[in-house]
Amino acid sequence: MFEIAPSILSADFTHLGDEIRAVEAGGAKVLHVDVMDGQFVPNITIGLPVVESIRKATELTIDTHLMIEEPSRYAVKFVEAGANMVSVHVEADVHLQRTLTAIREAGGQSGVAINPATLLAALEEALPFADYVVLMSVNPGFGGQKFIHTSLDKLRRLRRMINERDLPTRIEIDGGVGKENIAKVVESGAEIIVAGSAVFGKGNPTEAVKELIETATVWV
Ligand code: DX5
Ligand code: ZN
Repeated sequence: MFEIAPSILSADFTHLGDEIRAVEAGGAKVLHVDVMDGQFVPNITIGLPVVESIRKATELTIDTHLMIEEPSRYAVKFVEAGANMVSVHVEADVHLQRTLTAIREAGGQSGVAINPATLLAALEEALPFADYVVLMSVNPGFGGQKFIHTSLDKLRRLRRMINERDLPTRIEIDGGVGKENIAKVVESGAEIIVAGSAVFGKGNPTEAVKELIETATVWV
């Protein structure tokens, strides 16, 4: 099974509550929130107060993707702010096992995110401590980028790595996914599908989520 996780990065922030209700009506169960610090990535986006506000506005699972330096300083704070899932980048944290464990102890689901050019081996030892992996299929920083085609093979290799270890770790794919390639990523083993520009910013987000679910369901 798979879930669509609309990324609010491409939403209209002046109507965020309406945008969230719209994707919920389309069948989304997870809301992907991109946190950027202008250091780990060139862009600056959302922080703790916005997550607190979103928590009050929805029952959806809140999935915070921390694209920040020193994520261990903030990871637990995002759980306390109401996030259900918190992912930190393997490239940003030299004490990944400790951070993932702290997220779990705070009551959150722990995630490890990995950039397109980072070897899967970099997160292998962390897998038992991660509830999910965020496989980046674009370089993080901006919505609306093109899916990096080598990500499909990397996704299949990650699926194998997790299956061979008999771990329950789920795979989330993030970046450049839309109706033209969603079936392929689901078929290749992704279970949580982030979609930003494919959902927001082009007409009706409710219909866009429904269409993505239908397109991928044909193939599972
Ligand atoms: C990229 C972010 C993504 C982004 C995805 O840095 O991590 O979550 O919002 O947007 P699309 O689906 O437009 O590539
Ligand atoms: Zn993201």
